Amino acid sequence: MLVVMNTRIQTLIMKLVILISSLVIVQAGVTKRDAQCEGPLVNEVQHSKDVLKTDLDRPYLLTTDFSSNTLYFSYTIKGEEEGFKSAKLNLNTKEFTDIDGVPNGFAQAVDESTHEVYIGGSDGIYKYKPNANKADFFGANGTDIWTIYYKDVLYFSIFPSQFLYTFVDGEITRFKDLEDTLVDSFLIDNENTLFFSNSSGLYSQKKGTKNATNISGEDIRIRGLTKNKDGDVYACVQDGIYTVNKTQHSLEKYVDIDDAFGVAFDNQNNLVYADATNVVRLTPCN
Ligand SMILES: *[C@@H]1O[C@H](CO)[C@@H](O)[C@H](O)[C@H]1NC(C)=O
Ligand SMILES: *[C@@H]1O[C@H](CO)[C@@H](O)[C@H](O)[C@H]1NC(C)=O
Ligand SMILES: *[C@@H]1O[C@H](CO)[C@@H](O)[C@H](O)[C@H]1NC(C)=O
Ligand SMILES: *[C@@H]1O[C@H](CO)[C@@H](O)[C@H](O)[C@H]1NC(C)=O
Repeated sequence: MLVVMNTRIQTLIMKLVILISSLVIVQAGVTKRDAQCEGPLVNEVQHSKDVLKTDLDRPYLLTTDFSSNTLYFSYTIKGEEEGFKSAKLNLNTKEFTDIDGVPNGFAQAVDESTHEVYIGGSDGIYKYKPNANKADFFGANGTDIWTIYYKDVLYFSIFPSQFLYTFVDGEITRFKDLEDTLVDSFLIDNENTLFFSNSSGLYSQKKGTKNATNISGEDIRIRGLTKNKDGDVYACVQDGIYTVNKTQHSLEKYVDIDDAFGVAFDNQNNLVYADATNVVRLTPCN
């Protein structure tokens, strides 16, 4: 038991170190909300900046259930109960709810076809029932989950190895396409192209092949990946949100953000992002 506890605490500390190593200065939350539409220019369109939630510590691994317009993410908790916690934010009402029952809830994924929600914590994967606000154990008992993604099947990478696995009918298998690679962030687009990052950068790779193409250069650390409602891929880097140009295999700056931690979209295709303390939505003014 003691051994198990020690390993858990160790992996937690390591997760924290990884997070903190890519952290600059956590600034006090700016809660100003500009009714006059004074947000940034995105694609030359003036946007308004709506702060949806303040006073969070590094909101991470954002994902949206488009059917209910609910954002899922995790954040760091300190004090008596140190670690991570999953939470949800209703993007229509801004209602914020902590998700209990997942020890160190860290990674969130939504199955777009069934709208089922999966959460990875420090001792396995849980399935979350939004209406009952209840998480039930699902699989990978005793495994510290790093990232999680759902398309046709459940994918997850574990901590600290960062190997990527699939979970099919209770069976856990190393994902063949990426068996030679570490996986930090992971996503599959609507054309079945894999997008993944590791410490060497961001890559794309046609599913069923082992031919990875670097699309970021090597000196970049991806903090999050997402698809918008049209299937376009966006990446979160510390200095902002980038669009992935799939034909050019390149990243293009979409919007500058000071210390960005995560990216997602709402069901109207508006950008939602996290900085070090807030969850923010940008909507075009007109
Ligand atoms: C997970 O494994 C532990 C230790 O083997 C066991 O005590 C526990 O019951 C298992 N949990 C579930 C939900 O299977
Ligand atoms: C990251 O992925 C690329 C493409 O698969 C691979 O060449 C590289 O070795 C990987 N880096 C690490 C640290 O695993
Ligand atoms: C690998 O992908 C690159 C870029 O998409 C392409 O130019 C190259 O032909 C591919 N190689 C193989 C063996 O498929
Ligand atoms: C990708 O880059 C090419 C060349 O710069 C450009 O013509 C194209 O519009 C870009 N695609 C997207 C989706 O931005």
